[in-house]
Amino acid sequence: PLVNTVEMFKKAYAGGYAIGAFNVNNMEIVQGITEACQELKAPVILQVSAGARKYANHTYLTKLVEAAVIENPDIPIALHLDHGSSYELCKDCIDGGFTSVMFDGSSKPYEENVEEARKVAEYAHKYNVTVEAELGKLAGVEDDVKVEDDKAQFTDPDEVQDFVKRTGVDSLAIAIGTSHGAYKFKPGQKPKLRLDILQEVSNRLPGFPIVLHGASSVIPEFVQMINQYGGQMPDAIGIPEEMLREAAKMAVCKINIDSDLRLAMTASVRKYFAENPTHFDPRQYLAPARTAIKEMVEHKITAVLGCAGKA
Ligand code: G3H
Ligand code: 13P
Ligand code: ZN
Ligand code: NA
Repeated sequence: PLVNTVEMFKKAYAGGYAIGAFNVNNMEIVQGITEACQELKAPVILQVSAGARKYANHTYLTKLVEAAVIENPDIPIALHLDHGSSYELCKDCIDGGFTSVMFDGSSKPYEENVEEARKVAEYAHKYNVTVEAELGKLAGVEDDVKVEDDKAQFTDPDEVQDFVKRTGVDSLAIAIGTSHGAYKFKPGQKPKLRLDILQEVSNRLPGFPIVLHGASSVIPEFVQMINQYGGQMPDAIGIPEEMLREAAKMAVCKINIDSDLRLAMTASVRKYFAENPTHFDPRQYLAPARTAIKEMVEHKITAVLGCAGKA
């Protein structure tokens, strides 16, 4: 069924695991993710960015997710807006059938972030839609916002109680060292997550669901395959799986993954073209790409998230 994130997060928090939030942009991605979740009986969040809405159009994406809900009746599926930059965009998605939205005011001054997040939550809750907000700045690229490494800042635990109390949001994304994209650490730099900040945040917000953005592992096999078959992604590096597993056992209830989907799909298509230079039917190369996504998501569910059998 199509659901908001209330029950998912309550169970995830209590059970010491996390729900995967995967970005969707087309049919094969929706199918690959949800087939994996259906087989492993895992709840899932399908999230749509502003860029995805621009690329595929709101109606196509909501209808694809509706189809996935019909085809996979045994699992809870939430349809979530990723990085909503304004009240208007959040309202558009709430009115248009989303069950959850993120208002991302993390780059705005604190008081503006509070005021707009509060307004979004007030509107969303009338329609039983859940709201995620963000405090702290991740490094990296998201849509047209590029935050330089030195401008990134960890979430200040001293702010979280006031923020959640005044906004009434249902979950909070925090910055503890993750970042968006396929280049999360410099070559030679040791990957590090500030789990101490996560712990301090959850001490201030007992029982409250925390979200990790920029949480792809940039799976080395896919990077290697891309480079082997004509791509150029030297130095692509992500968050080690064991760090994400630790976070999932703690207050983190939602782990956002987009880059690993892109890498799985691209690695598969590059390999296919290299091995089958005469083929030109898109179904021939998109079918293995869809399977690659499915297998990658199955791996996340069992090895990182811990949400198998929790539907
Ligand atoms: O946080 C960013 C997500 O990976 C979505 O990326 O804005 O290019 O669709 P996008
Ligand atoms: P990755 O780029 O690490 O996959 O992060 C995705 C994300 O945070 C989407 O909101
Ligand atoms: Zn994000
Ligand atoms: Na958790």
